[in-house]
Amino acid sequence: MAIQTKMRKDLILLKDLSTEEINHLLDRGDFWADNPNSTISSAPRTVANPVIVNLFFEPSTRTRFSFELAAKKLGYHVLNFDARNSSTTKGETLYDTLRTFEAMGVNTAIIRTQEEGILQEIAPQVEVSLINAGAGANEHPTQGLLDLLTIRQEFGHLEGLKVAIIGDVKHSRVANSNIVALSKFGAAISLAGPEQWMPTEIDSNVQISSVDDALNDADVVMMLRVQSERHALTNTIDNYLESYGLNKTRFAKLKDNTIVMHPAPFNRGIEIDGDLIERSNSRIYRQVANGVAIRMAVLELCNAG
Ligand code: CP
Repeated sequence: MAIQTKMRKDLILLKDLSTEEINHLLDRGDFWADNPNSTISSAPRTVANPVIVNLFFEPSTRTRFSFELAAKKLGYHVLNFDARNSSTTKGETLYDTLRTFEAMGVNTAIIRTQEEGILQEIAPQVEVSLINAGAGANEHPTQGLLDLLTIRQEFGHLEGLKVAIIGDVKHSRVANSNIVALSKFGAAISLAGPEQWMPTEIDSNVQISSVDDALNDADVVMMLRVQSERHALTNTIDNYLESYGLNKTRFAKLKDNTIVMHPAPFNRGIEIDGDLIERSNSRIYRQVANGVAIRMAVLELCNAG
């Protein structure tokens, strides 16, 4: 994976992974999804019972607790860092915090931060392996992987699928990781939402369209959370559900085998009608379940000897 000179490996950006590396993680994710209580690990470890630390500088429910659960299922030790009661409040930097945990014998740090680019900067300077648990609006690689796993379980492949990604694309690290990874596998991606939330640069397999055009013929519909904490625009968009969200009228026009996804947390009645969250073609809770499986796969690979 990204940094090969360290004894352990990092997972910082899906952009840096090959399709072979992604497929390996999806295969292991599939194994853990099918065998959640297996005690068989595929690879020898650098140490028998690795220690991970969850360093979250932004709130999280799914990512943080699924990493904790994944680590415990693998027999790892887990430390949970509380940023508000840590020495970062006295000015300790992320680098110094990581060197401190490294000195204690921590093997893997799982980091959620607002600071884009900081993990790439620090990774070559520390021996502890770094896993990006969401960095600003840049990437959220394990969310991208669990989304790919969910789609692959459904269709058996990723190539040629039509994927609609709807909403706040510009501020979404989830959208970025999915666009990068789905593009590597030859999916056709349609982006839709308020014009000011669309990216300014797109590749040839990506198009920007209206919400209704993006949904037409889509195999996969990914709704994105309106991220009111990242911008002040939300309150200025009246009637978001009717203008850009997945409401019942749009849902009724989807193909029978279209699946609906959302990374969550979701805003019921804003980007998605709350009644649609548990419909039979929603995969939102499957995504959560796959989050544990894919994070087991990532921890295994980062701690493989
Ligand atoms: N999807 C996701 O990253 O959720 P959390 O913010 O709860 O981790």
